[in-house]
Amino acid sequence: IKRVTTHTIQEMKNRGEKISCLTAYDYSMAGIVDAAGVELILVGDSASNVMAGHETTLPITIDQMIYHATSVVRAVKRALVVVDLPFGSYQGNSREALNSAIRIMKESGAHAVKLEGGLEIKDSIIRILSAGVPVMGHLGLTPQSIYKFGTYTVRAKQETEADKLIEDAKMLEDVGCFSVVLEKIPAKLTKKVSESISIPTVGIGAGPHADGQILVLHDLLGINKEFKPRFLRRYADLNGVMTDAISNYIKDVKGKSFPNEQESY
Ligand code: KIV
Ligand code: NA
Repeated sequence: IKRVTTHTIQEMKNRGEKISCLTAYDYSMAGIVDAAGVELILVGDSASNVMAGHETTLPITIDQMIYHATSVVRAVKRALVVVDLPFGSYQGNSREALNSAIRIMKESGAHAVKLEGGLEIKDSIIRILSAGVPVMGHLGLTPQSIYKFGTYTVRAKQETEADKLIEDAKMLEDVGCFSVVLEKIPAKLTKKVSESISIPTVGIGAGPHADGQILVLHDLLGINKEFKPRFLRRYADLNGVMTDAISNYIKDVKGKSFPNEQESY
């Protein structure tokens, strides 16, 4: 199998082919996602919500991210594996950011890292890139800053915030990021950004004009029932499928029909 690299997805943008991306956090799911054929798998700090049950992405640690990333890398044969630097592992200074990125790359075997923010973290991004580690940017709704924003609503509806986002995106391209995630911003702004930078944009809740799309795997599969923002399309009701399967198992155990003779030694 030919591995997807940062160059592969750049070439996809160049020829107008959309890039499909999903999150994964563990070996079993990552194997399924990779075999299905997405180009990029993000070990997102959304693991803090989806895997650990925290309300925000802030509590997850770098060691926990490395545990998830290591499991994902073991399963993936084709996709580009990108890992989120978690909150607190890169905001201090560029040296700390570089150390965190190096730990993730060395200990997990992942192919790239993702950091939230623009100008504020420019030095850190440059330093990580100088070490030869590909960096993906992340602009718009940046969940590690949720307590600054106050809500998870759409970002950059106002012109000043939109202008800053465009500037940040251009900076990310200039310093050498290979791609940038645009989260929960108006579709029009995504179009403008995607047309004004040459590196691929990957949208979530950012409309159809991004060069690629990403969703949280558990959301797409319908594992959590409560989370239903407008941008989410559910491709399965795994919550229902799993609940039915488990209910049937319970029924069979209680009714003594499981295990039967063929299922016994
Ligand atoms: O952590 C995550 O899942 C993400 C994506 C939603 C972009 O950052
Ligand atoms: Na994230």
